[in-house]
Amino acid sequence: FSAGIIGAPFSKGQPKRGVEQGPDVIRGAGLIQKLQKQGCAVKDYGDLHFPQVEDDDPVGGVKHVRAVGRANQRLSEAVKKAKTDGHCSVVLGGDHSLAIGSIHGHASAVRDLSVVWVDAHADINTPLTTSTGNMHGQPMSYLLRELVSKIPVLPNLSWLQPCLSARDLVYIGLRDMDPEESFILNLLEVKVFSMVQVDQLGVARVMEETCDYLTDKVKKPIHLSYDIDAIDPSVTPATGTPVVGGLTYREGVAIAEHLCQTGLLSAVDLVEVNPLLGPNPQAVQSTVHTAVDLLLACFGRRREGNPPSDYQ
Ligand code: ARG
Ligand code: MN
Ligand code: MN
Ligand code: MN
Repeated sequence: FSAGIIGAPFSKGQPKRGVEQGPDVIRGAGLIQKLQKQGCAVKDYGDLHFPQVEDDDPVGGVKHVRAVGRANQRLSEAVKKAKTDGHCSVVLGGDHSLAIGSIHGHASAVRDLSVVWVDAHADINTPLTTSTGNMHGQPMSYLLRELVSKIPVLPNLSWLQPCLSARDLVYIGLRDMDPEESFILNLLEVKVFSMVQVDQLGVARVMEETCDYLTDKVKKPIHLSYDIDAIDPSVTPATGTPVVGGLTYREGVAIAEHLCQTGLLSAVDLVEVNPLLGPNPQAVQSTVHTAVDLLLACFGRRREGNPPSDYQ
């Protein structure tokens, strides 16, 4: 199956410079050539251009709402196009506020979908619960139908309709939630495999249970939203909000491999790679290479080897 690559050099969902360089460094590490070499057809849609938004003062403490709203409207259209062209869309971030447009665009092309959100964080703060005001800590709250009454009207976000039900969402890798986020997850009875469950069950069981849960009744297309900070910062330190105690490289890759093997993977986000962070060049390289390896696993690369028939 083919990959439709969309670069989304956007960083206004959080305060640190550099995450807008994610698409460049992931491409620079050879993503497209490596995908083609493993037999995957690739359509590169290039990078989106996000125009400067003037007078973007905070709204009730939430920062850069207008820029985030405008950028995600563009991204939603781009993802919808990649999907109607028949590709598995791949969004290279950029920060995780981009999941708003990516999931919305995917949902508008396929109607019903499920989401696997791999992250140290739940990113489900609402504009009222956020303590940082950063939009990358909030995308899920805008997407869930169950939270629609909790979201105030915000500038440049009126195009957005919630498109996901809480029962179609699974989190993996959580270990740094704000108290209000835990409250929301419990209230909505969202399926969560935090690092505690990864420790107790092992990643293989977590993935079996994830897929059993999501494909219980109907097999919906899966949207994988992968925040690189889900992986332990000893492996992927070049990210804005690292949290110790994360997934190993092997667990991270196993998640992508397993989702690929369902045959239901329909869209992927790879976000929060920031090449200006991390203590040294090797740290950045390790982060970027891991991001590329996660994407290669999403498109069929297996550690036990692929038969030559997979190759062109
Ligand atoms: N919970 C914190 C917040 O709401 C951190 C979010 C980090 N999100 C991320 N995509 N890295 O600001
Ligand atoms: Mn995160
Ligand atoms: Mn908080
Ligand atoms: Mn995130």
